[in-house]
Amino acid sequence: KKVVLAYSGGLDTSIIIPWLKENYNNCEVIAVSADVGQGTELDGLEEKAVKTGASKLIVLDLKKTFVEDYIFPTVQAGAVYENRYLLGTSFARPIIGKELARIALEEGADAICHGATGKGNDQVRFELAIKAYAPDMAIIAPWREWTIKSRDEEIDYAEAHNIPLKINRETNYSKDKNLWHLSHEGLDLEDPANEPQYEKEGFLELGVSPIQAPDKPTYVTIHFEKGIPTAIDGKEMGAVELVEKLNELGGANGIGLADLVENRLVGMKSRGVYETPGGTILYHAHDVLETITLDKETARTKQYLSIKFADIVYNGQWYTPLREALTAFVNETQKTVTGDVKLKLYKGNIINAGVTSPYTLYDEEVATFDAEDVYNQKDAEGFINLFGLPIHVKAVLDQKRNNK
Ligand code: ARG
Ligand code: SIN
Repeated sequence: KKVVLAYSGGLDTSIIIPWLKENYNNCEVIAVSADVGQGTELDGLEEKAVKTGASKLIVLDLKKTFVEDYIFPTVQAGAVYENRYLLGTSFARPIIGKELARIALEEGADAICHGATGKGNDQVRFELAIKAYAPDMAIIAPWREWTIKSRDEEIDYAEAHNIPLKINRETNYSKDKNLWHLSHEGLDLEDPANEPQYEKEGFLELGVSPIQAPDKPTYVTIHFEKGIPTAIDGKEMGAVELVEKLNELGGANGIGLADLVENRLVGMKSRGVYETPGGTILYHAHDVLETITLDKETARTKQYLSIKFADIVYNGQWYTPLREALTAFVNETQKTVTGDVKLKLYKGNIINAGVTSPYTLYDEEVATFDAEDVYNQKDAEGFINLFGLPIHVKAVLDQKRNNK
């Protein structure tokens, strides 16, 4: 028997290897690590996986596809979950799930195993992606099967099975890191009454707190082509490099911290703190460019569909006809979203510093106070009479009734 395991090298997935061998007839375990920009966490992983019992480790570099095919379409859609969360973990799961399915089929595996708990969103996201690409594949989710209940018990298990650990007990948040964001959950953060310790050494990893940011602002100009960012300060760059550069600038200026209690798909509320420095800049810049390149009704329609888009991404429904249809709509709106957005980054703030587009719909001639040829102020009178007709009629009738 062969099992393909989504492997990160962290505590959860490390103890899963011996657990699988113990509980699934000494099966062969093929570990798969997807590089979505979590950085150094991949160093020394092969050795670690094999030492703990895997037959091999397959490392996939998914960074470019992750940004181009998952992140940018979500930014273009303006999708933000519950007004705050920029979906950093959410859209990383479908891309990993799809690759797990592909490898499992190629390797002739009998099952795919992941280390997401039975209480979270990630299990749903992984499994919906696997269902889309390997509908008949069995799925093993140890957290839903084993009797281990806590991090301490995991560490006990690891020690009993001679798995080398770098972490100490109960001092680490549950974190998820990739090119787009870093999430923090658990420990003191589980009580929404507690303030996150932003200034404490070792808490923030992608940047500093606004309080620790420089007293001088940083200007940045982002160029977009059809809603896709392609250059920073006049320098063209690839998608991955561009996000990395914005993370650097945003992080240094204390941009992109979000603290929220969100509604998980599985019903419970959970508290999370997110670092999304570059992403926060990109969403802002893209939104500013749309203020001059989209007409009002398209912008309104896009805005309410963005809530649906965010739910779809959060819920792991990336590979669905509705997500594809919404992306088709969004793409149509992006034809004119080309131009430059200049921003001033300052102590956690993003301040608009000018926007231009060859497709701008903003006409100074119309907006200015002294042009009478395109906008005749007399026209406004008739417009207001018709626009205000229901208000006028109701007021007249109310008056009559009150006088009776
Ligand atoms: N609550 C966020 C989400 O559902 C982040 C989850 C972080 N995942 C993790 N395995 N630590 O998208
Ligand atoms: C997990 O439970 O695996 C992480 C949290 C989540 O998926 O929401």
